[in-house]
Amino acid sequence: MTVRRSVVCGVGAYLPERVLANEELAQMVDTSDAWITERTGIRQRHIAAEGEYTSDLATAAARAALAYAGALPADVDLVILATATPDDTFPSTGTIVQSKLGMTNGVAFDIHAVCSGFVFALATADNFIRAGQARCALVIGAETFSRILDWQDRTTCVLFGDGAGAVVLRAGEGDGTIADRGVLTTHLHSDGKFHDMLYVDGGPSTTKTVGHLRMQGREVFRHGVEKMAAATEEALAATGLAVLDIDWFVPHQANRRIIDGMARKLGIDTNKVVVTIERHANTSAASIPLALETAVHDQRIKTGDLVLVEAMGGGFTWGSGLVRW
Ligand code: UT7
Repeated sequence: MTVRRSVVCGVGAYLPERVLANEELAQMVDTSDAWITERTGIRQRHIAAEGEYTSDLATAAARAALAYAGALPADVDLVILATATPDDTFPSTGTIVQSKLGMTNGVAFDIHAVCSGFVFALATADNFIRAGQARCALVIGAETFSRILDWQDRTTCVLFGDGAGAVVLRAGEGDGTIADRGVLTTHLHSDGKFHDMLYVDGGPSTTKTVGHLRMQGREVFRHGVEKMAAATEEALAATGLAVLDIDWFVPHQANRRIIDGMARKLGIDTNKVVVTIERHANTSAASIPLALETAVHDQRIKTGDLVLVEAMGGGFTWGSGLVRW
């Protein structure tokens, strides 16, 4: 049986030039390099320049992914941008990216699932492609979390950074087995009863301001390990695969200890886990595509490899996707 598959043809990333190291942050707020490194694995983060917006980061990552894929903006008929830090309240930042890419075709919109955003966007694009409603999709995760941080709050401001990553998906054909290249399965979840454990205390309808990120760190940590492990197991069960069959695990990068906790829980060899948190910190929806780009660039992820992405974030939202590269 022939089935449509969404095949990854390109990957790209962009990080703002300015690097903020832990040592420098320790001069701004009551923290230390030792605390941040031991508790999170983070050593530095990138910070967008004044006048550099989420759409700029997203456009740069999208251009890199298109160049990798050998595709032109005119080939793209779907742009999905995962972000919780849009340029403006509206229009969607995806449409701004569409315009910055010079596209006059296709459809663009944003997906808002915070740190799970890339997995949600990947699943949505895959469904569009498999339904025959798109042939070439740009799936982007881009964030400027530096703009919504309370820089006086040491329990949150040390954790996040800015950045963007993108993949190009093209419609392909497979025989419907796990030997196919492309997205093999995706699984999305949310449970809104946890919406106030990780949130931004402002918005157009409430305070009419942007607000700052607030988090009950310990609770989010616990749910992060549990939910990313559960989503990973779900993808394995759906495809009849075992942990050992997976070549690369690319989790959302929130805290090194969350990633290690998940790996321990599932018996995953940590050498198969792509970790970029030390250089990028938590870039929310951008963290997985940034990590994918890193591991493709350094030739860990190769064509034919089985790559499992998993994430958990505000909402709570969580999910996973399995891709044969
Ligand atoms: O993408 C999803 C979103 N976010 C996450 O997944 C993050 C989830 N949570 C976490 O990563 C961790 O809970 C944190 C990194 C936020 C905190 O680590 P923790 O090991 O859970 O620390 P804690 O909150 O239990 O705090 C331990 C101590 C506290 O001091 P006392 O009360 O023991 O005296 C904090 O006040 O560490 C203190 N502390 C800090 N000290 C130095 C908290 N933040 C800092 C800091 N520097 N930046």
